[in-house]
Amino acid sequence: MSRPPVDDWSLDFDHFDTQWTEDPFQLWASLRRSCSVLTSQRFEDGAFLPLTYADVHAIAYDTEHFSSKRIVVREQKLPIKGMPPITSDPPAHTPSRRILLPPFAPQEVQKLEPRIRGIASTLLDDLEGRTDIDAAVEYAQHLPVHVIAHLLRIDASKADCFRTWIYALGTGSVHNPEAGIVAMEEMSAYFLDNITQRRATPDDGLISYLITAEIEGKPLTDQHIIGTLCLLLVAGIETTWSAIGASLWHIATHADDRHRLVAEPDLLPTAIEEFLRAYAPVTMAREVVADTTVGGCPYHTGGQVLLSYPAANRDPEKFDNPDTVIIDRAHNPHAAFGLGRHRCLGSNLARLELRVALEEWLARFPNFELAPDAHVVWSEGQLRGPKVLPVRIVQIED
Ligand code: HEM
Repeated sequence: MSRPPVDDWSLDFDHFDTQWTEDPFQLWASLRRSCSVLTSQRFEDGAFLPLTYADVHAIAYDTEHFSSKRIVVREQKLPIKGMPPITSDPPAHTPSRRILLPPFAPQEVQKLEPRIRGIASTLLDDLEGRTDIDAAVEYAQHLPVHVIAHLLRIDASKADCFRTWIYALGTGSVHNPEAGIVAMEEMSAYFLDNITQRRATPDDGLISYLITAEIEGKPLTDQHIIGTLCLLLVAGIETTWSAIGASLWHIATHADDRHRLVAEPDLLPTAIEEFLRAYAPVTMAREVVADTTVGGCPYHTGGQVLLSYPAANRDPEKFDNPDTVIIDRAHNPHAAFGLGRHRCLGSNLARLELRVALEEWLARFPNFELAPDAHVVWSEGQLRGPKVLPVRIVQIED
C-alpha cells in the first residue's frame, strides 16, 4: 500500500513514513520546538501523539480515560482477539497480570541464565571464523525465540514459523492486513493444539502452568490461555531482539563505547539501561474512552493515542542531553518498559537476555564495526530495531 508523503508532521504524522523509520529522533527534536502533541487523520477516528514524558506518563497511568483495547494505531481497526493482560483494562487486568507474575519474578528468571548463555554461545559458535555477519538476522533474531520456546516448552525448530507470524502480525499486516489475520488464526490453532497435549501430558513449562492457573477459583478459558500465549510469543521475542540489535548497532558505530565496554565489562548493566532509553523499541497505543485533557491538549472519545515510550525517553525536560548516548549515565528513569499498570512483565527476562547476549558477543567479537557500505534496515511502525545489521569482524594480529 503506498502512503502519501507527510508534509506537516504536527497535523499529519505517520509512524510508517520512511523518515520516521530511519531517524525518528531528529524529527521529534525539531517538532518539540513548536508542538508537544502531534495529530493525524490518517488513522481511523484520528490519532494523537504526545511527545513529552509528562504526557506519556499521565496517559499510561490514566486507565479511566485511556483504554488498552486498541494497542496498535492503524488506518483501520485490526480484528485481533484479546491478549490478556496487555489488551485488558481494570478490573479484568489485575488478575490476568497477577497470574503471570510468579514465572517472571527475578529469582525465577535468574535460573535461566545458564540456558540463555548456552543458546548465545551455540549461535556464536556457528558464526566463528566469519568476517561478515548480519548481527540482526544471524544472532539477535534467534536468541529470544529460543528463550521463549524453552519457557513454553514448545518446539524451537519452529522458530522460522514463529518469526513469520510475528512479522505478519506487526509490520506485515500494515502492507497486508489479511496476513495478520491468518497469522493470528494459525498461532491460535497451534497453541490450542499444545494446550490439548499438555492437558493429556503436563510438563513443567508455562503452558501447563497456565492450564492450572485460576481466576476467582475458576480455571482460565482456552481463549484466555491462547491470548496470553500469543502475547508472550509476540511481546517476548521481537521486543528483545530489537533491543539486542539496536545495542549491537550502537556498539558497532561507536568505537569509544565498544573499547570501554570491553575494558570495563562491569559497566554493561548501566550501558544496557542507556541503550534501552535511547533506542527503546516499543511504542504502544491507547483508545480514548472518555473526553479528557492532558497537558492542556483535549483528547476526544474514540480517538487513538500513539503512546511513544521512545519519544518520552528523549524528552529534554526529563533527561539531560537526551540525544546523546552516555553509557555510564548515572540517573536513568527511562520508560522503555512502559509506565503504569501495564509495565512490562518480562523486564527481568529482557534485561538478562540483553546482558548475556552482549557479554557473549563482546567476549567472542571484541572488535567489530559496521560492514563497509552496510545498509542497515530498521523495522517500521511501533517496534523499532534493526532488521538487517551487516557488521565486519575486525581481526587483530597478535
Ligand atoms: C527489551 C525487551 C522488551 C521491551 C522493551 C518491552 C516493553 C514493554 C512495554 C513498553 C510494555 C507496556 C505496554 C503498555 O504500556 O501497554 C510491555 C508489556 C508487556 N511485556 Fe514487555 N518488553 C520487552 C520484553 C518482554 C519479554 C521478554 C516478555 C516476556 C516473555 C514481555 C512480556 C510483556 C507482557 C506480558 C506485557 C503486558 C503487561 C501488562 O499488560 O500488564 N516483554 N513490554
